[in-house]
Amino acid sequence: MAAQKKLIIGNWKMNLNVQEASTYLHKLEAAMKVHRDVTVVITPTMLALQPLSLQINRHKLKLAAQNFHWRDFGAITGEVSATQLRGLVTYALVGHSERRHMFGESTKDTREKVQAALRNHITPVLCIGETKAERTNEETNDVLRDQLVGGLANVTSEEVDQVVIAYEPVWAIGTGNNASPHDVEAAILTIRSQIRHLFGRDKAASVTVLYGGSITADSAADYLALRGVDGLLVGGASLKLHEFTSIIEKAHSAAE
Ligand code: 13P
Repeated sequence: MAAQKKLIIGNWKMNLNVQEASTYLHKLEAAMKVHRDVTVVITPTMLALQPLSLQINRHKLKLAAQNFHWRDFGAITGEVSATQLRGLVTYALVGHSERRHMFGESTKDTREKVQAALRNHITPVLCIGETKAERTNEETNDVLRDQLVGGLANVTSEEVDQVVIAYEPVWAIGTGNNASPHDVEAAILTIRSQIRHLFGRDKAASVTVLYGGSITADSAADYLALRGVDGLLVGGASLKLHEFTSIIEKAHSAAE
């Protein structure tokens, strides 16, 4: 099978203020090499999206939002809509486990957000993954299927290529306990077979699927080499210049 273009998304979470984000972006653009076979995306704080959109070299990097509200506008104090993000970001995370678990974001919310992103020409990155207890109880496959079916319920087979799926086991996020390549491969297989069930064989092969959870420069290549893994969703390591540029290089090597 020919190697596919890789997607590397750095999720900065609630780190770096606007000034720090701008400085880091400047350093990242100076340090990173551009590869045609790797798309690199950064996901800064919502506050920094506007200033960074003016600064960013779009040939090198794309912007993503960490979250948004699924309504396009209205009396919803404190929220930002996909309509407001339109033109500013290329991607937006949906259903990150920190949103699901800290803010009670439901499967219905993820479904609405996937729709909102698509109608505003933003690529949703639907994050799915099981908790430690669900893995221990051998419920991983059921959880992945439920989160996929629920999140993608209103997506058409024409649209599914515009959706990215990120497998992020909850217990592997920010813990240093990354999932074994074997477990990741099994989960990705479950995800692609569910996509086949929903959208057919061609879409199962073509949809972009990422792994995320305690990725480092040292571990990145092991995941990028797995069958069915099209890239990585990187948290902590994306805030370390050397680590992140090294992960980009690993993705280039894996795509060659
Ligand atoms: P870490 O890489 O810090 O585990 O975070 C992963 C993640 O949540 C990316 O969205």
